Amino acid sequence: MCIVFDKAARVFALDTPRSSYRIGITDAEGFVTHLYYGRRVPDVKMDQTLYLGFGQPEAYSKTGDQVRFHGTMPMEYPTFGVGDFRTPCLSVEAENGGRACALVYAAHRIYGGKPKLRGLPATYGGADECATLEIDCVDAALGLSVTLRYTVFEGLDAICRSALIRNDGAGTVRLTSALSACLDMPNRDFDVLTLHGSWAYERMQNRRPLAWGKHGVSSVLGRSSHEENPFIALLEHSATQTQGQVYAMNFVYSGNFLMEAEMTQQEQLRLVAGIHPEGFRWTLAPGEAFEAPETVLVYSDQGLSHMTHTFHDLYRQHLIRGAFKDRPRPSLINNWEGTYFDFDTEKLLSIARTAAKAGVELFVLDDGWFGRRNDDVCSLGDWVVNEQKLPGGLKYLSDEIHKLGMQFGLWFEPEMVSPDSDLFRAHPDYALQNPDRAPTLARTQLVLDLSRQEVRDYVYKQIYAVLSSARIEYVKWDMNRPLTNVQSATLPADRQGELYHRYMLGVYELQERMLTDFPHLLLENCSSGGGRFDPGMLYYGPQIWTSDNTDAIDRLRIQEGTALVYPLSSMGAHVAACPSHTNSRLTPFETRGLVSLVGCFGYELDLTKLTREELHMIPEQLRLYHTYGDVFRTGDYYRLASFAENGEYDALMAVAKDKREAVLIYVQVLSRERRAVQVVYPQGLEEGTLYRSSETGQLLSGAGWMYGGMAMPRMKGDFLGKWIVLEATEA
Ligand code: GLA
Repeated sequence: MCIVFDKAARVFALDTPRSSYRIGITDAEGFVTHLYYGRRVPDVKMDQTLYLGFGQPEAYSKTGDQVRFHGTMPMEYPTFGVGDFRTPCLSVEAENGGRACALVYAAHRIYGGKPKLRGLPATYGGADECATLEIDCVDAALGLSVTLRYTVFEGLDAICRSALIRNDGAGTVRLTSALSACLDMPNRDFDVLTLHGSWAYERMQNRRPLAWGKHGVSSVLGRSSHEENPFIALLEHSATQTQGQVYAMNFVYSGNFLMEAEMTQQEQLRLVAGIHPEGFRWTLAPGEAFEAPETVLVYSDQGLSHMTHTFHDLYRQHLIRGAFKDRPRPSLINNWEGTYFDFDTEKLLSIARTAAKAGVELFVLDDGWFGRRNDDVCSLGDWVVNEQKLPGGLKYLSDEIHKLGMQFGLWFEPEMVSPDSDLFRAHPDYALQNPDRAPTLARTQLVLDLSRQEVRDYVYKQIYAVLSSARIEYVKWDMNRPLTNVQSATLPADRQGELYHRYMLGVYELQERMLTDFPHLLLENCSSGGGRFDPGMLYYGPQIWTSDNTDAIDRLRIQEGTALVYPLSSMGAHVAACPSHTNSRLTPFETRGLVSLVGCFGYELDLTKLTREELHMIPEQLRLYHTYGDVFRTGDYYRLASFAENGEYDALMAVAKDKREAVLIYVQVLSRERRAVQVVYPQGLEEGTLYRSSETGQLLSGAGWMYGGMAMPRMKGDFLGKWIVLEATEA
């Protein structure tokens, strides 16, 4: 198996196809230390003095300078209070107010398969697909035990970590910080890469040299956020798409998080990931346990591409679940940008008829179908259909849509309540709010206290009633504001610090219940566009609305940043109206199609207002989606040229796993007269296989295309694109 324990050396050796991870039990006391993570090595016991710069580490915790030992030793799960002054994973407060904690090895287990994390999203795999190491560590003085878990998946350069913290003592222990993973290592001229953004500009890549101090990304918004994504990578300064070492972490969680790279005085690096300690305080009564969410570690010695492929394969095979895990997603038409709140049954049906005629498979009714919701200031929480707009209710509309041969989908926002709603008038305490303060509204709405079972039950009853009232095959689950005034009417004062996390557990429980009762539902998560695009949400819904920005040119960099970590099959991507509702840009219908075809494809505009030429393009776009969608959904994705970097053009491709088919998308963002022809270099082809280009008919070997390059067609004008298929052919 890929995990072994060398008893004599007291070292755990974890190996993936191209990487090795080594954990040591160090010192007479048995601290669980980090020995190595990187390119695969045959050795078990690595050189620990590498980190210390002096003497044998075994000596230090027993002799004079324990602080120096703790302050420099690379640790697997560092604790606060005994001499390690870097960011800890675990920080506690004992009943007597004491803050010190030190964990030592107690026992371990290695077995096939992977345990579920209670109430949390996580990767999964059977005994034939992965192996898990559990190391129990204890602090005898506190009566606290921590089980560190490491899972290695067959064939993937990923290691999934989590931690279970238990109070086995007689007194109460408070956790003031309980992160999930730590990676200590020497500095090697690293850059740090994170994904930052804002509403409508999510997941912009931000790469810069790592300097002294702490650098990272975080969220205290109660959602993983548009601003920063729970992803961080350290990469060699010289690393490119295809070369160099990369260490990446992705946090499988959708709420507050902290991911931080720290360079210490001795030029050691510490990378940590977990729930943000700000606003977090968790009480463990005797016998209680806390499950810290999962962090995925990926190592690549072949640049960013291999990191991306590992994340994509891991998430497609071992994170995404349900009926649509391995199935093509239906093309859809969403009415949001087409009508906003201004619709009735007839208007919706006229759009649906046009869509059905063109071959679109799913009609999605967005916001505005319930209560008195004719703008965004009321009615969230009152999930009762507005019969003035939709006489006959959802059932009538859904039946009519089905008669057209389409499926029917619905938007709702179950986590929220409008102050102007029957729900809020009846149960004001159901909202998160501080009784001594005025409520802080965002989009004129408040957040429901999903930490409470009765609130979850109430919300679920509504969801169940709506989904049972008509044939509904798809749900867009939205979440349109951050959490503020995070106070629950029922949690005791000394447990209010648990609220952010209990809220997230509540959201996960609701989605799990819904999917258990409606297992064939296609769930697309959403949060004001891409404000909760993280692996946690992918465990429940296989696709996520990428961004409210539907302009094709802005989407190039939004989708590039998103696909750095998340599979193309998880990105909702729609052809929207022009001028763009986000930035007023005019782009050809064809280019909007090309950019959207890489993801979960759809339309989001009033189809009845299209020109005849545009309407005629839809069947061809749908044909491409049905013929080649699988290459993007299941294949390997390559970034060939980035408009975000070169300011001129963009090129990406996907290659089927069997390498018989590849699709290349080129977008000439800004035209440039009198320049030599633009050449892009395909990747991922089989060198010795012959491929024919759909653009020119030319037949070349994979090597010929990849090393000789492919000349892009000359096109006159801005925002123009090409879709080029490379099909493997026998000579
Ligand atoms: C959010 C979503 C949009 C749309 C609106 C409806 O902003 O991101 O796609 O559903 O809500 O209010």
